[in-house]
Amino acid sequence: MMVCEYKPGLEGIPAAESSVSDVDGQKGILEYRGIRIEELAQKSTFLETAYLLIWGQLPTSEELQAFEHEVRFHRRIKYRIRDMMKCFPESGHPMDALQASAAALGLFYSRRDLHNPAYIRDAVVRLLATIPTMVAAFQLMRKGNDPVRPRDDLDYSANFLYMLNEKEPDPLAARIFDVCLILHAEHTMNASTFSARVTASTLTDPYAVVASAVGTLGGPLHGGANEEVIQMLEEIGSVGNVRPYLEDCLQRKAKIMGFGHRVYKVKDPRATILQDLAQQLFAKFGSDKYYDIAVEMERVVEEKLAHKGIYPNVDFYSGLVYAKLGIPTDLFTPIFAIARVAGWLAHWKEQLAENRIFRPTQVYNGQHEIAYTAIEER
Ligand code: CMC
Repeated sequence: MMVCEYKPGLEGIPAAESSVSDVDGQKGILEYRGIRIEELAQKSTFLETAYLLIWGQLPTSEELQAFEHEVRFHRRIKYRIRDMMKCFPESGHPMDALQASAAALGLFYSRRDLHNPAYIRDAVVRLLATIPTMVAAFQLMRKGNDPVRPRDDLDYSANFLYMLNEKEPDPLAARIFDVCLILHAEHTMNASTFSARVTASTLTDPYAVVASAVGTLGGPLHGGANEEVIQMLEEIGSVGNVRPYLEDCLQRKAKIMGFGHRVYKVKDPRATILQDLAQQLFAKFGSDKYYDIAVEMERVVEEKLAHKGIYPNVDFYSGLVYAKLGIPTDLFTPIFAIARVAGWLAHWKEQLAENRIFRPTQVYNGQHEIAYTAIEER
């Protein structure tokens, strides 16, 4: 058997062949199915991008219309899911609520007809349609309110913001939110996508695939970083405090949230687009004191850490955009999940097409032939 060198975090080790997306970390290029992220952010919508990722090409207008229609009419969640969510503790993190709810969906659709395109489409539509409803429902229920019914006359992002805030969003806010979903929809073999593919490789159902990926996305080294960015900006409090704060972090060897990436060694192209979106929001709805702190942070981090290739990643400016849209901090990661479901499902489909169960090996560094010690002798 070929012996490979162990690499912590599997750095540089391909886990699959994939045509879903590609990153050039040296040039700062991200493509979904070969199309640059900048072009999709400018011209596409989240649902069109989801279709592109999952089915491999841009839909025709009839295909897109049919897909949007199906998603629109599957947005309601079952009353039994809603009742289950009502029993969740209000103090629980919304990512945990989402993981449990996504897994619970599988209870209703436990038939695994994985070779049937109709089953695949049905699961794709149901997950894309209901995950935003679940996120909004938990948010309202933990405040003691009843969840708001989805509005069929609103598009994907406008409907989510409506369900969350109980009022129809401003069109610019809805469009900016939709672009945020496009930017977060997919990103090659990140931790949660790897988790989704490992789960998919056992031929379990897509609800378990998404639930395991949601669990993986929640950690602060992955999707959870955007929440920590806002907490960090609050802690810094003023532009003048940026430099001492960062110097203290560097001295303690603490990671600066929203900076650094395993693949990008330049500024993440999504961070550039998100920064622009933040500026558009501030121009329309008034500026934000945290933006100036963020810009100063970027400048000082570049000065101190550019030699290590540490620049802002997607999580650095996304929190500022969401905060300006009135979204509570602990919903940032569930919103990341709403978007990333598209990528996870694209990888689920790809994994099924050429499946072999994931079963890596390990480097055993324990002992052998140890005698069992009776309990009274320990
Ligand atoms: N602040 C300060 N130093 C950093 C940072 C940072 N944010 N990120 C990396 N470094 C340094 C690190 O200390 C190490 O230096 P040295 O070689 O002197 O020991 C070097 O850069 C390599 O770091 P690493 O931890 O080995 O890099 P990694 O590829 O294992 O980790 C990362 C990547 C994203 C987990 C890491 O950069 C990090 O923890 N960033 C902060 C958390 C964050 O923003 N996460 C969101 C990631 S992007 C979206 C997503 O994936 O969800």
